Amino acid sequence: MAREFTSVGVVGLGTMGAGIVEVFARNGIDVVAVEISAAAVERGRATLTGSTDRAVAKGKLAEADRDALLARVDWQVGLDALHSVDLVIEAVPEHLDLKQRIFAELDRVCKPEAILATNTSSLSVTEISVATTRPNQVIGIHFFNPAPVMKLVEVVRTVVTSADVVADVEALCERLGKVDVTISDRAGFIANALLFGYLNHAVSMFESRYATREDIDAAMKLGCGLPMGPLALMDLIGLDTAYEILDTMYRRGGRDRRHAPVPLIKQMVTAGLLGRKSGRGFYTYERPGSPVVVPDEHTPVTTGGALADGARAIAKVGIVGSGTMATGIIEVFAKAGYEVISVTRGAEKSAKVCEAVKTSLNKGVVRGKLSEEDRDAALGRVTWSATLDHLADVDLVVEAVVEELSVKKALFASLDEICKPGVVLATTTSSLPVIDVAMATQRPADVIGLHFFNPAPIMPLVEIVQTIRTSAETGATARAVCAALGKTGVVCGDRSGFIVNALLFPYLNDAVKMLEASYSTADDIDYAMKLGCGYPMGPFELLDVVGLDVSLAIQRELYLELREPGFAPAPLLEHLVTAGYLGRKSGRGFRDHTKR
Ligand SMILES: NC(=O)c1ccc[n+]([C@@H]2O[C@H](COP(=O)([O-])OP(=O)(O)OC[C@H]3O[C@@H](n4cnc5c(N)ncnc54)[C@H](O)[C@@H]3O)[C@@H](O)[C@H]2O)c1
Repeated sequence: MAREFTSVGVVGLGTMGAGIVEVFARNGIDVVAVEISAAAVERGRATLTGSTDRAVAKGKLAEADRDALLARVDWQVGLDALHSVDLVIEAVPEHLDLKQRIFAELDRVCKPEAILATNTSSLSVTEISVATTRPNQVIGIHFFNPAPVMKLVEVVRTVVTSADVVADVEALCERLGKVDVTISDRAGFIANALLFGYLNHAVSMFESRYATREDIDAAMKLGCGLPMGPLALMDLIGLDTAYEILDTMYRRGGRDRRHAPVPLIKQMVTAGLLGRKSGRGFYTYERPGSPVVVPDEHTPVTTGGALADGARAIAKVGIVGSGTMATGIIEVFAKAGYEVISVTRGAEKSAKVCEAVKTSLNKGVVRGKLSEEDRDAALGRVTWSATLDHLADVDLVVEAVVEELSVKKALFASLDEICKPGVVLATTTSSLPVIDVAMATQRPADVIGLHFFNPAPIMPLVEIVQTIRTSAETGATARAVCAALGKTGVVCGDRSGFIVNALLFPYLNDAVKMLEASYSTADDIDYAMKLGCGYPMGPFELLDVVGLDVSLAIQRELYLELREPGFAPAPLLEHLVTAGYLGRKSGRGFRDHTKR
């Protein structure tokens, strides 16, 4: 019969501990909440009351239930108070020696049958367990931040954790309304092993001024649908905790350079910029512990008028291409009131593109998002052509032809001859160096990347890629155009993958490597990222949607440009592509889509 947990102890009431107390107390379990000092206890208590008061204010918790919840918590200084609990969860800072000391003490204080659990994110549960005389009753229970919200719990069993302890803890997670994945003791478990390389990479982009903090975060939120950007997430996790996790993962996880903490993180920790908990990290917060970001000296100043910072006036836009992206981009510009000239390679292609734009606009009308007059006006703004010469007097050209450098270079050389001076020439390439395309013209200062996302009418993000030759006016014009289209334009340098793909694909590739190493299943890895990190899709779901061949090509480009050994494509990904398992489009990828 499963063990009854009537009372549990939580040690350390910081970012995670206070949330874990709430999880138990909400589910009718008595909690002994322990800290090192009375002041720290007060901080933990304030976090809990703050959180439950917010829940009451939002109508998610009745006042009487809040009072009952708070009455279940017994606040104490020192571990001695834990003598009669059935389970202890430790959530003190991520240092092995500290955790080992605490476990040795817990072993002495707690009753013999009590289970001792750690919330460590990256340390070895096995090494922590050997500090006790009961390693078979030691287990990892890894909650996600914020603990009351995130559904996932990673249950970490060591080689000596007894099977009934694992089963009892799994049953407890279910009682708490959590979804658990049970795994073995490896640095970073599932979610952090996939998350922290990405977070560290995002910090290095910020540190090298590749893009601003706002643009990096907006790119990942709007380009991938993540609940928050990587730098805002670092602030939520706490930079001191993130540093320790990266450092441990680097040492335990095969010295992958991608886990070597970016120097800026250590500097910020030393300077006391720990993130939300200290009121300042990558962003500045209203006060310590507050989630509300306030402007600081790095907050971009909005110029007000779109032309204020040297942007050129754009009225007439040429769009070259006849594929999915060109079709979507024509619609975006026409709806925003620009005069559009669509150029394809023949009347037949133009007719097809015109039909596709009409169909998409009609869908907008059916869904009530667009009036019939606006649809007709948008269509009326588009001229259909099969001759580049018609682009002689446009103000902006957006190229969206096939992703082949030779084709794009030839097109830009032609545009250079045809277009009037001062025109902004933009490429939508997602993987080629924009500078190569720019140098095919005599006017590289006017060339820029405008990387739209698919489907262009829906996705709110555009990456604005500036080469080392792009002029300030061209950049300002691109930003003004994105704003006029109602898109969020994020500015970045001309490096493989820009922001989104450079941060997204190595993570997907790492998930494939994790599956290949048989650490976990595709289902559990997908669960971990969705329920632990709030991602809209798990990595294998997303790979099957994007296409394994496309993902492999992007990953190869990243690897070739950056020569980062950790970016080498996962052999399993290569084999699946060779076998023709390309994802949804071929009926089979990581999953079989023919049966669903
Ligand atoms: N921050 C996250 O997003 C996150 C997510 C999951 C797991 N974790 C893990 O949870 C653990 C705690 O991390 P955190 O971010 O909550 O840290 P934190 O710094 O916010 O809180 C740690 C708390 O432990 C207290 N403490 C220190 N020594 C103590 C002792 N001897 N006895 C009792 N209390 C003591 C501190 O006073 C502090 O309040 C770490 O192992 C971390 O890796 C963190």
